[in-house]
Amino acid sequence: MTKLGILEGSLRRASLSRAAGRAAAGLVPEGMQAVALPNPGTLPLFNQDVLDEGMPDAVGAFIAAVQGVDALLIVTPEYNWSIPGGLKNAIDWLSRKTPSPLAHMPVAIWSVSPGLLGGARVHEGLRNTLLSQDMRVMAKPEVQIAGAKGKLDVDAGRVTNPDTEAFLRGHLSGFATFCNAWGGA
Ligand code: FNR
Repeated sequence: MTKLGILEGSLRRASLSRAAGRAAAGLVPEGMQAVALPNPGTLPLFNQDVLDEGMPDAVGAFIAAVQGVDALLIVTPEYNWSIPGGLKNAIDWLSRKTPSPLAHMPVAIWSVSPGLLGGARVHEGLRNTLLSQDMRVMAKPEVQIAGAKGKLDVDAGRVTNPDTEAFLRGHLSGFATFCNAWGGA
């Protein structure tokens, strides 16, 4: 069984990307199980001074949760053409743990936006950050959920557009194959 950790890029309650992340639990193929990771909003702002004094409890819990999964699905908005600060902060915390819980772990990205580009511009920078951790990034197909307000039910955490749902299901199926190819998951 591949445990797929869902890492959210948004902190807000009525988040579109969080809804897509919740929906993923119902779209994973057989042999894959979605696991919700603590939201990046639970973490303090990274500060190397704090690190010298030991990991804060919330960070320890977050690291343990990531250590408990085999692969990551990051579901995130794009902020100002880039990675939301809370998500980058979460990755920075993980990167300071030795050995890194991210190293060699398969990862895929879904970007989500009410806009027409679907958060397309977050992918390149985020992929680069994940590669810095020696993660196994599945670069294609890119998933950009554009016009997300019309495709997601935020309260139910569900995809309402059948074409989008089929595409996401297919993407997760491909990602499961990608994870198995790396052997660790
Ligand atoms: C945005 N938004 C946005 N959208 C986009 O497509 N490209 C962008 O560069 C940005 N930049 C941006 C910056 C900041 C600080 C905010 C708050 C918002 C709009 C964004 O896509 C929209 O608010 C989403 O609904 C945010 O994602 P969640 O919270 O719904 O998952």
